[in-house]
Amino acid sequence: MSQKTALITGITGQDGSYLAELLLKEGYRVVGMTRRSSTDVHERIAHIVDEIEFVSGDLLDQSSITAIVSAVRPDEIYNLAAQSFVPTSWTQPVLTGEFTALGVTRVLEAVRSVNPKIKFYQASSSEMFGKVQETPQRETTPFYPRSPYGVAKIYGHWITINYRESYDVFAVSGILFNHESARRGKEFVTRKISDGVARIKLGLQQELRLGNLDAQRDWGFAGDYVRAMWLMLQQPRPDDYVVATGRTHSVRDFVRLAFAAADLDWERYVVVDPRFYRPAEVDVLVGDASKAYRELGWEPEVSFERLVETMVLADLDRLRPFAPA
Ligand code: NAP
Ligand code: GDD
Repeated sequence: MSQKTALITGITGQDGSYLAELLLKEGYRVVGMTRRSSTDVHERIAHIVDEIEFVSGDLLDQSSITAIVSAVRPDEIYNLAAQSFVPTSWTQPVLTGEFTALGVTRVLEAVRSVNPKIKFYQASSSEMFGKVQETPQRETTPFYPRSPYGVAKIYGHWITINYRESYDVFAVSGILFNHESARRGKEFVTRKISDGVARIKLGLQQELRLGNLDAQRDWGFAGDYVRAMWLMLQQPRPDDYVVATGRTHSVRDFVRLAFAAADLDWERYVVVDPRFYRPAEVDVLVGDASKAYRELGWEPEVSFERLVETMVLADLDRLRPFAPA
């Protein structure tokens, strides 16, 4: 069988790095779309950078995306690029809509005009469930977004379904619950905590300032979740899937375990700072991934406890060289 080509938007992000690893292992030619930057953004893929082809494009720019799809001739496109940080979506709501909502249409338009046989994966989000209408959340649960990011992701979700129904494109939407790793951006709560714990342990920081400790999330490991993305595009027909662990924990639970992993008592170091509260909060998310289990044979392998410990140990290793003598 001839080698398959995958085009990944958002390859420099957390998920892009794990997905690129997986697809290389599966024998794909992997092409990553990156936007121009004056600094090096390849940190997460530094170990595989020589195995990836890069093309320059931006979700804001239709002609660059169409030209890339035309030149690369991918069999599969994974649209992971987005403005993905929820708080930024309140301060930059229009830009978030341009990237995270309309950006999806731009990629789909390129697929439709260049070759509608290209398989397309859209990175949808549990943030679409927002103020949850049903627990646990599944593919049929109605959406009630609580942030401009959530609103934009719902647009991306429905435009994906619309291109499937209008043009018969093999387009799928993966509704992924929060997934984390040592490669997570430091602004997201889990990595902010693991990085903060490591800094406190090593004497590089005195306290950790956080917002709402009562929020609950269904947290999994990013390496497990990219496998579900790939599996969705290997099915006989396109469909949408929830990907989650089925377990939920509070930010406080994450904090407690993370500090414990470094033999520290969290209550001595954590300061609740209302600056990190959100205008509207998503209080509790927990997913039902039984359809993904049944149809894709997917299930998570890394437990919450192991995820927390791994993230703290990785940050301790990374920061140890900077600890005061
Ligand atoms: P991430 O680490 O924030 O990565 C986002 C990626 O998008 C980066 O590679 C970024 O490139 C790229 N990007 C942003 N704006 C762009 C633009 N205008 N043109 C081209 N590329 C652009 O996100 P992630 O955690 O890997 O998540 C991947 C996707 O899954 C996102 O769509 C996110 O919304 C969605 N999602 C994530 C989770 C989760 O828990 N992680 C859950 C559900 C859905 P730069 O390096 O240049 O900034
Ligand atoms: N970031 C952050 N910083 N969040 C905090 C803090 C803090 O200091 N303190 C408490 N939190 C709470 C937030 O209020 C939120 O309820 C929860 O921690 C998780 O926040 P994030 O880690 O920023 O993630 P998110 O759930 O808002 O969004 C992530 O998951 C979505 C899937 O549900 C992102 O990866 C989105 O792109 C993704 O779609």
